[in-house]
Order: sequence, then C-alpha cells, then structure tokens
Amino acid sequence: MVRAARHESRLAADGGTPVRTRPFPTINDALGRQVGDEELALLEEVIRSGKLNRNTGTKVAALEREWAAAFGVDHAVASTSGTAAIHTALGALPLDPGDEVITTPITDWGTVGPILAQGCVPVFADVDPRTYSLNPEEVERRVTGRTRAIVAVHLLGQPCDMDAMRDIARRHGLLLVEDCAQAMLATWRGAPVGTMGDLGCFSLQQSKVISTGDGGMTITQDAALGARAALFADKGWARGVRQSGRREHRTFGLNYRMTELQGAVGLAQLAKAASFVARRRRVAARLTEHLADAPGIITPYVAPEADPVYWFYLLTLDPARLAVDQPTFMRALRAEGIPVNGVHNGDALYLQEMFQRKQVFGTSHYPFDYAGRSVEDVDYRPGLCPVAEALTDPARSRSFLLPCNEGVTDEDAAEMAEAVRKVAGHYARRPA
Ligand SMILES: Cc1ncc(COP(=O)(O)O)c(C=O)c1O
Repeated sequence: MVRAARHESRLAADGGTPVRTRPFPTINDALGRQVGDEELALLEEVIRSGKLNRNTGTKVAALEREWAAAFGVDHAVASTSGTAAIHTALGALPLDPGDEVITTPITDWGTVGPILAQGCVPVFADVDPRTYSLNPEEVERRVTGRTRAIVAVHLLGQPCDMDAMRDIARRHGLLLVEDCAQAMLATWRGAPVGTMGDLGCFSLQQSKVISTGDGGMTITQDAALGARAALFADKGWARGVRQSGRREHRTFGLNYRMTELQGAVGLAQLAKAASFVARRRRVAARLTEHLADAPGIITPYVAPEADPVYWFYLLTLDPARLAVDQPTFMRALRAEGIPVNGVHNGDALYLQEMFQRKQVFGTSHYPFDYAGRSVEDVDYRPGLCPVAEALTDPARSRSFLLPCNEGVTDEDAAEMAEAVRKVAGHYARRPA
C-alpha cells in the first residue's frame, strides 16, 4: 500500500515542511526502549536484599537459566558486555597463541578485541554486498593451515548463511563462534542464532534487542565448553568444589561477572524479548510494503532460510535511478525528522590505526610475529576487502539505516517511508 503524501514535496533541507516534527523513538531514550515497572520491581528486590553481586544473589543465575531455556541449550554464562561474552567464548575454546581466527571487518571492536586478547590473529574476510554480513566464499578463501576458528557475526539482525558457515567449519575442522550481539532471536531455518556454532555470544548494551545498559551472555550446548566459559568469566575460580572452602583457580580467567542489578533488569527484559522482536519484524514488514515501489530504493535482502530481527532497517540507494549520494540523502532524511545512521561509522576494522601498526601489547608485534610467522605475512592492506571498504567510504557507500525498535509504531513506520519516498522522489533521475 502506498500512502498519499500529506506534505509538500519541497525538501525540509531546502526549507520545506518536515514530514516528522515529533521526536522519533530511538534506542537511546525511553521512547524507543521499553524499560519500566517490571525492571523496577526486580531491581527493588535486589536493592532491598543487599545482595548486589552474582555470587551472593539469585538474579544472574536465574537469568542464565531462563536464557538457556529460551534458546534450548544447557549452558549460559552471563557477563559484563558483549565483548566479555565473546572473550569468554574464545577463552573457553582450545585456541593457541598465533592461531588465526577469521571474521568480518564490518563489526564492532568487541568482536576482534577478544581474538587479540587471546593472542590470536584476526583474519578479515569480505562481506556480502546485499547484507554486509560475512560472505562464505570469502571466508573459505582466507582459510590457511593456521586457521583455527571463525567468528560469524550476524550483522544488523540478519543471520549469516549458517549452512555455509557450518559446512566450512566442518570441512576444515574449525571452531565456530556466533556473534549474535545484533541479532538476538533471529533464526536460520528456524534455529535461533547462537545455537548453531560451538558457542553463541550476545550483547545487552543499550542499543541491542534487549538491554541491561551493558551486559553479555555466552551460550553453548557443550558441557565442557560451558564449564570452561563459567570459569573464564569468574577468575578461573572453581567455587564450592573444595569441601575445605579454600580457593581453587583452575584456569586463566578474568572478572566478567554480571551484577545482580543487571541480572534483575535482564530478567524483566528477557520476558519482553519476543514481543520486542515481533514489533521489529512488523515495522520492517510495514517499511518494505510502503517502500516497494519507491524509485531507486532497495529494501533489505532476506535469504529464504532467514527470519531476521532487524536491529536496524537497511536501505540501499540505486545510483542508476537516483542522482544523489548517500550523505546528502541521509542529511535530507534527518531534516525530515528521521534519525538515520550509516551502517558502519568508521573504516573497516583492519584499516584502524592499531591494525596498521600491528601493535597490541606494548612495543611488541605479538601475536602477529609469533609461532614462526612474520609481521609482513599478516595482510591488513587497503583493498583487502573491497565491499567492506566501499561500504565505509562515504563517497562510495550507498546504504544507511532506519531506526527499528520496540517503540516504533506503525504510524512511525509510515512516516519514515513517506520521508524516504519524498527524498527519493526529489532526487529521482528523470528520463532525458
Ligand atoms: C556485532 C557486535 N559484536 C560485539 C559487540 C560488543 O558488544 P558490547 O558493546 O556489549 O561489548 C557489539 C556491540 O556493539 C556488536 O554490535
């Protein structure tokens, strides 16, 4: 269904009337985040109990149990952030320093920091131009004799091609970690992301599907990995195993313990997760419907096996039909009252200063020069991942993101689509 434009066609950026004048619900405020009485009630219980730490209280343990049940797995380990959740997963795996771990350059730093922290070498594979998620063919091209694991990132709420990822991991004997920070409850062939690799990792940071401000969760079906993950997130401390009560540190670990305050909020948020995801899917469906025939506007590609959760809603401009670049289009939409974002604000990760210097630990080049490898063997040169580089170059990028969260109503979706159609109509190429 196409809504008739209610507003004049002159762009707000050119002095016209904006499509939207009321504030828009975003992930950074109470309009876009449903946090309220349920969270407060559980938080009050924690505060009144005086038990703020997970080893004294009950909320984090309950959250882990409920999370595991929701995903149909036996083990869930809560932590302080998505970064910590990924570090916990990698810390549980039998990785050696110098091992290569393949991942995407279009992701948060929290995907790669833990690889480096474990003394492993991130190897970057290019992304699919339709979804900007890891391209399986590019992953396979990067496999060497040193490759030990893949971290598959489900970007923007869209699952990676998990048939292909699992197949590559199986054929090459690789470990597979799923970074589900942006994709909680997305599914591939009906299986929730996070349950198809060796371990799955989630973020509960402010912008995610559910939030505790910051927070993380690592899940697995493997009992040994689950036990090692729990140790890693709690100083390698095997609590309660010794009758004497003396401390026993079995493995290397850090303190990534989630607090009871986060656990309380997490429990209330987890109970709302399915309804948040239903709303996101509905907003996305409305947008796709409203934008079906908008000139030069390409709506998200969704693989037939995938049921995404639309962390944001990806739009791509068709330069054959629109005479406008992405920054100008985004500026015009902001002027219409729609808060849009770029897909990845910043260069592809390997172009960031730290990777270019290849210095992580002090003045050393470890792990890039470790285990018989020379620093020059590690390729972080410009041009490594052309699709990722085109996406992150404002002069070449054609994609951007519309907000999609539990606070966005059908009317908001219609107004977003109206604004997109208005701007696209303004810049549409006319036949000569
Ligand atoms: C894909 C991805 N991986 C990892 C992370 C790290 O999560 P956190 O910010 O909670 O540490 C994020 C968060 O932005 C993310 O989007």
